Amino acid sequence: MAKPLYYFNGDQTKANLDFPHLGFDYTRCPYRFEAVYEFGVWRVRGLLEDNQLHLPEGSQCVHYGQQLFEGMKVQTGADGKIYAFRPRDNARRINEGARYLCGAEIPEELFIRGVEEVTLANLPFVPPHGSGAALYVRPFWLGVDDNVGVKPARNYIFRIYVTPVGPYFPGGFGPDQGKSFMVSKYDRAAPHGTGHVKAGGNYAGSFLPTLEARSEGFAGAIFMDPAEHKNIEEIGAANFLGFKNDTLVTVDSPSILRSITRVSLLEIAEKVYGWKTEERLINLDELDDFDAAACCGTAAVLTWIKGITDPKSGRSWEFPYDERWVKLYDQLTGIQTAKVDDPFGWRYEIK
Ligand code: PLP
Ligand code: COI
Repeated sequence: MAKPLYYFNGDQTKANLDFPHLGFDYTRCPYRFEAVYEFGVWRVRGLLEDNQLHLPEGSQCVHYGQQLFEGMKVQTGADGKIYAFRPRDNARRINEGARYLCGAEIPEELFIRGVEEVTLANLPFVPPHGSGAALYVRPFWLGVDDNVGVKPARNYIFRIYVTPVGPYFPGGFGPDQGKSFMVSKYDRAAPHGTGHVKAGGNYAGSFLPTLEARSEGFAGAIFMDPAEHKNIEEIGAANFLGFKNDTLVTVDSPSILRSITRVSLLEIAEKVYGWKTEERLINLDELDDFDAAACCGTAAVLTWIKGITDPKSGRSWEFPYDERWVKLYDQLTGIQTAKVDDPFGWRYEIK
């Protein structure tokens, strides 16, 4: 007999999943949201049960990488409500990508409607408060045409799927959960290319570097600036942060993704804790003067870095578990899950 897609606990409210022990893996949820752009207008197809896509074989997303995606988390708050975190920022970022890849922008209200509808349709899969898991929301955008030429599509698919997930880096956040990264000899993006938009091709290019780093026992690869390989860029799926003396320093570069988590942490550091912050170039050798390092993102949340190794120079750096990461982590996740006030208006109530 076919395995059921999902089934419920006795209380009929939650999918029968081991929420506290989920990894960052795909679980097929019952519904996904879809809209299509044809003849110059967006048309909502609504909630679909079919998790397969049907595309013309000549589609630009298939041949020329005309594709974008987003990632955000929906969580159950301490007050029992269901919240997304800054979804309008994800809508803005996907549209920045759509402009760069010369395709149709997604109206912000359509994006938000999709996030709400797909969450509500899959409510049993929103992990309970305190489980440490979240519903990962994955909006994506595809250029789809009967096509062969190298040119932008006229038609687009906007789909959102959701899946409950645990921590991206196994173990999550904690004193014994520091991760080590290897400086990559490869680049994930070109100096003035697509690094700042969330285009799938940036990620395909990070598979080999990441797998190589993992085969050496590291949690992942850390990329250097693609022009000179002197300054830190980012991890394959997270931005870099560090403390130098009493200042929280993060990277400013045109070829990294501007992490919504990072800009949130910077604002928390400044406005909640009164710490100094800087966004600037960080030379790899400057790590000598850093007291602490971490990386952050929707999936990675805040992960403290205990070591960075550069095989080329043979240098490596070690960092301690720093209480300031705990403060930032607690405040960020506290805002996301309504454990603390949200002075910034970042929580978006879905239900
Ligand atoms: N950098 C890259 C390359 C990413 O894929 C992500 C994940 O979205 C991030 C940084 C973190 O961005 P955000 O905090 O907006 O999720
Ligand atoms: C996210 O943090 O949402 C990401 O997109 C990272 C990832 C590629 C899983």
